[in-house]
This record gives sequence, structure tokens and C-alpha cells, in this order.
Amino acid sequence: MADKIRIGVIFGGRSGEHEVSLLSARSVLSVLDPAAYEITQIGITNEGIWLTGPSALEAFEKKQYDSLSPAILLPEPQNAMLYRIRKSPAGDILEPLTHLDVVFPVLHGTFGEDGTVQGLLELADVAYVGGGVLASSVGMDKVVFKEVIRANNLPVVASLVFTRRQIETSMLDVVAQIEASLPYPVFVKPVNSGSSVGISKCAGHSDLVEGLMDAAQYDRRIMVEAAVKNAREIEVSLLGNEHPKASVLGEVLPSDEFYTYNAKYIDNKSELVIPARVEPELARRIQKTAEKAFSLIDCAGMARVDFLLERGTDTFYVSEINTIPGFTEISMYAKLWDASGLPYAGLVKQLIDLALERKSDRDHTKYRREA
Ligand SMILES: Nc1ncnc2c1ncn2[C@@H]1O[C@H](COP(=O)(O)OP(=O)(O)O)[C@@H](O)[C@H]1O
Ligand SMILES: [Mg+2]
Repeated sequence: MADKIRIGVIFGGRSGEHEVSLLSARSVLSVLDPAAYEITQIGITNEGIWLTGPSALEAFEKKQYDSLSPAILLPEPQNAMLYRIRKSPAGDILEPLTHLDVVFPVLHGTFGEDGTVQGLLELADVAYVGGGVLASSVGMDKVVFKEVIRANNLPVVASLVFTRRQIETSMLDVVAQIEASLPYPVFVKPVNSGSSVGISKCAGHSDLVEGLMDAAQYDRRIMVEAAVKNAREIEVSLLGNEHPKASVLGEVLPSDEFYTYNAKYIDNKSELVIPARVEPELARRIQKTAEKAFSLIDCAGMARVDFLLERGTDTFYVSEINTIPGFTEISMYAKLWDASGLPYAGLVKQLIDLALERKSDRDHTKYRREA
């Protein structure tokens, strides 16, 4: 029998989406075939500590970390191993635990989906699922992502960006600038956000002041965006490397006035419509736009591109890209593939294959001129 592929599944993390990540990882682990993969579970605590153990996910779910060992991945290609850190009277000892052929970072949001973990994996020269450093960081940054999309003549909603310092020191000036160029209502968002944390829809002056102050807690840069009136929320899953394929479209029917944290995770009343009821010609245009957005940021493996579609018209806008979208079996990303004929277990396997393919592509790159 061929050697098993050694896969590290990383979950948890320091972001507000720690718990969502545990749910995603539970689904991924449930379909990884133990006959094909040697699986190492690696959890990252809210404080950023890496812990490993055969039942690390279960321990994280119970928030009982005592049975787990601290672990570390060194940023050195020669030592692309996961090490266990053992305490000894003489100091910490690194014990080689396992090589990793591929890592699946099942992490959402900051310090996981934003290129930081991807940077470590690049330095360690390990294959990993999903976009690289550039795609991850651009995908996470709502302003830079929009600039890339806009520069390529794809539709995005008008927006402005301010720093936290501007908001703290010149609130009236900031509000005046917004009111001079965008009609109410507007959306205020931390630039690097997810799960709608720190996002508000502001209908007037006092709302706006409150929204800006709230968002400024979550990021150093704040984006203010014109609201698309009567917006339908359309999402497309992408899979592939250089030639990404788009899934069928899905639509979110949020249970709140917009798709808030509460509507996403708490009240359980939002609905997903799959496939979305969109005319085939328009659906095709949206899929093509999603594929372009994916390639423009040099994304790899997977992503979900979200759109705002003006109800009753053909006018749509690229809203955002999620390079590690919610990844449970019942998340939009996976459901769209299931409806497109690719069930969850096959999806996970394809992502691992794509990660290995991308790594072997990168292995052909020379990093310096040969003498
Ligand atoms: N310009 C907009 N017009 C209408 N609704 C919007 C707009 N921007 C955001 N929203 C609403 O806010 C939600 C969260 O915004 P989004 O940019 O997707 O942030 P997150 O990364 O937190 O998901 C969207 O799903 C949508 O319901
Ligand atoms: Mg969103």
C-alpha cells in the first residue's frame, strides 16, 4: 500500500471565529479517510498557543486542554516537522512528532485566514489547503480587495476609508466627508472583519457616529459603504487553482435586517436557498465574475465570493471574498458544491489534492540564480 499522506488539521485560533472553526474542523475530520491519511490534530487556543493530541478537537470543544501537548512548527524547510514541547528541569525540549505533507488550516478570520499562518507554512515549506499569503491577506482586507476588483472593471459599491485615529480625533470631519458623498443608509465595517462583527447599518447622523466608534474598536481602518437597497445576497463557491470552477449560486435570506452575527450563528432562522432563483444568463455572469475575482487575487484551492444583487434588476456588485469560508458540511460553501454534484468528502479530498498540486508547482520555482 502506498504511504499515507500525513495531514495536519489546524483549528481554533485567536479570532472571534474560534468556535466556528471548531465546527468546521469537526466536519473535515469526520470525512478524512484514515486509510488514506495519517491525521494530526492541532488546536490553537484563543491566546494563540498551539496544542496537539489525538483528540485535540474534542478537548477544544470541551475547553479542557490539560491532556494536550504544546506543539510548534519551525519556520525552517529543513525541519518541516511538528514538534512537541516537553517541559523538563533543564528547560523546554523539542521532540519531533511527525512530518506533515499537507496542512489544512481550518481557521477563519484574523491570524488564520489572513495570510499569517500561510506565511509560516510557506517558510516551513509545507503544502497547505487554500490561498497563499497574498490571496489570503488581500481577501481579508475589504478595501484592498475592492480596489483590485474595481481596477479590473468589475462592479463594486462606492466606499470611503478612514483610520481609527481620524475617527478618534476628527469625528465631525469624517462624518461630513461621508455625508457629502454617500446617501444614507450606509454600512460601516472594520476593514479586516468577518462574521459581521463590528458592522452596522446606519440610517442617519447619530447612528453613523455610533457605528464608526464601534467599528474602530475592531480595526485600525474603517470602511464606509453605500447600502445596496433591496439587496439579495448571492454567494458562489469556487474550487481549483489556476482554473477555478464556480458552483451553482446560493442565496441567503437573513433573519435580521441584514446578515448580522445574530442572523448567522445565533437565532437559526436565516435560510439558504440552493440553487438561488436567478435567471440562467445572469447566474452565468455572476459565476464568471466570481471566477475572475478568485484569479485576480491569485487565490488557490477554495473561496466563496459573495455578491449583492439589486432585487428585480440585473445589477450586481462583488461584495467580498472569503478564502476560508465556513466549512461545515451544512455551510453554504459545501452545500453549493453538493448541489453542483460534489459531495463533502470528495470536496475535502479535492482540496488536499489541489494543495499538493500547488506545492509541486511551487517546487519548480528557483529562488536564486544558480551559479
Ligand atoms: N453595501 C451593502 N449593502 C447592503 N447590505 C450590505 C452591504 N454591505 C454589507 N451588507 C450586509 O452586511 C453583511 C455583512 O457584511 P460583509 O461585508 O459581508 O461582512 P462580513 O465579512 O462580516 O461577512 C452582508 O452579508 C449584508 O447582509
Ligand atoms: Mg459576508
